[in-house]
Amino acid sequence: MMKKFEKKSIFYEYESTEQLTNSEEELIKEAEKAAKNAYAPYSKFKVGAALILDNNKIIQGNNQENAAYPSGLCAERIAVFYANSQYPEVAIKQLAITAFRGDELVELPISPCGSCLQVLLETQRRYNTPVEIILSGRRKIYKAENVEQFLPMNFDLDSLKGES
Ligand code: THU
Repeated sequence: MMKKFEKKSIFYEYESTEQLTNSEEELIKEAEKAAKNAYAPYSKFKVGAALILDNNKIIQGNNQENAAYPSGLCAERIAVFYANSQYPEVAIKQLAITAFRGDELVELPISPCGSCLQVLLETQRRYNTPVEIILSGRRKIYKAENVEQFLPMNFDLDSLKGES
């Protein structure tokens, strides 16, 4: 008999930034600032990411597009790779993401793409510290306590070694 199993994901939903801590609110503001500096002439979809490290430094990233479309990169990976390149010993505590469609802040939050989630998962496990993810839109804010909420079934170093 086949068995069915379930893997649950938990997300928290907020109606306004007032329900968040000051530092979370600040991180969202940093993500919005970052989004404004995105280079997205092709999609006109400007994504901003801001993360806070364990040493409380904030790092921003935004999407960088290219006429050769696949050569571009998402905001999240730019922020995470930059943080890991500058502070290789320091864990990422929290990452906030938002986006503008043209000049309009998105109404509902957007999720990181699959490739960015894979990179976030690696970073989380590399530092053995959960990365909290905050997705911010005008109407709603979603929060997840770690990357596994987005990738309940995943491939990582343990899969490579045969330990999971
Ligand atoms: N993009 C991001 O930067 N992050 C995401 O999570 C989703 C998509 C960028 C890639 C591309 O420059 C534009 O948004 C449209 O896909």
